[in-house]
Amino acid sequence: MTLPTRAQSAEDVIAFYNAHRTVRNYVTAEDGSPLPLPADHLEAILHAAQRAPTDATAQLYSLVRLIRPEVRAQMATLTTNAHIAAASEAFVVCADVRRVQRVLEVNGQQSGHWPAIAVHFGIGDAVMAGTNLLTAAEMLGYQGCWIGGVMNGLDGIIDLLELPSGVLPFAALTIGTSAEDTPHRPRVPRPLVIHTDTYHSGTDDEIREAVEVMNPIAARGDKPGDWARLLGAYFAVGGGMEGREPGLVAALKRQGMWAAEE
Ligand SMILES: Cc1cc2nc3c(=O)[nH]c(=O)nc-3n(C[C@H](O)[C@H](O)[C@H](O)COP(=O)(O)O)c2cc1C
Repeated sequence: MTLPTRAQSAEDVIAFYNAHRTVRNYVTAEDGSPLPLPADHLEAILHAAQRAPTDATAQLYSLVRLIRPEVRAQMATLTTNAHIAAASEAFVVCADVRRVQRVLEVNGQQSGHWPAIAVHFGIGDAVMAGTNLLTAAEMLGYQGCWIGGVMNGLDGIIDLLELPSGVLPFAALTIGTSAEDTPHRPRVPRPLVIHTDTYHSGTDDEIREAVEVMNPIAARGDKPGDWARLLGAYFAVGGGMEGREPGLVAALKRQGMWAAEE
């Protein structure tokens, strides 16, 4: 029997996850170019990504590692996230059902029709691989940032990275040594997130309390935070997510992963 490697204690585990910060400013070389990770650290984080569990043994994801400065620069523009250019490592984490379809093809089998499943398990696998990579990087003392800003330029990203049908960007992911003083950001109180046996929607008071707890995450400089307002800017009528919806629907159709009937 293989014994799992263990953390020293539960406190160690909590301390490790408490040290997590999303970081957007990284230590660079003197000329501002990305500071490479030592080869063994790069190997470790890529290994971690590929050790992620996966649905149906399929590994329905791909990572595109961004190396060329011009590709980094274009991705920074397309995602509206400048730190993609300066991070030690930058990846685009994609759902990918193309490789499985190629395995079927090469083995004389015809792929079935399962676009909704492709999105469901493809995004799931992509997130698990990316999370493993980020956690491994944090174990080595780096910090990172997921970048959902890929939704701001999906069509251009698919062109730039030459993503074929069956491959859909989920998010970018940057890794590097932090060059900023980042606050510890709060989370929604546990009873609204971890449910016991049956789902609990939360009373109005519990929701108000959660907003109070979360308000600091929206603070900017001296201005106190207003989390409900921040969520509104993303998710309310006329918010950023409504703006992103048509681009994602178009990308799903372009990549052959749209399940709805026309
Ligand atoms: C899927 C996903 C997309 C995100 N997109 C962006 C982004 O486009 N730009 C950015 O600066 N941060 C982005 N973030 C980082 C979040 O803002 C950050 O995780 C959140 O505020 C919590 O902060 P913490 O990770 O430091 O605890 C993203 C995080 C996730 C998981």
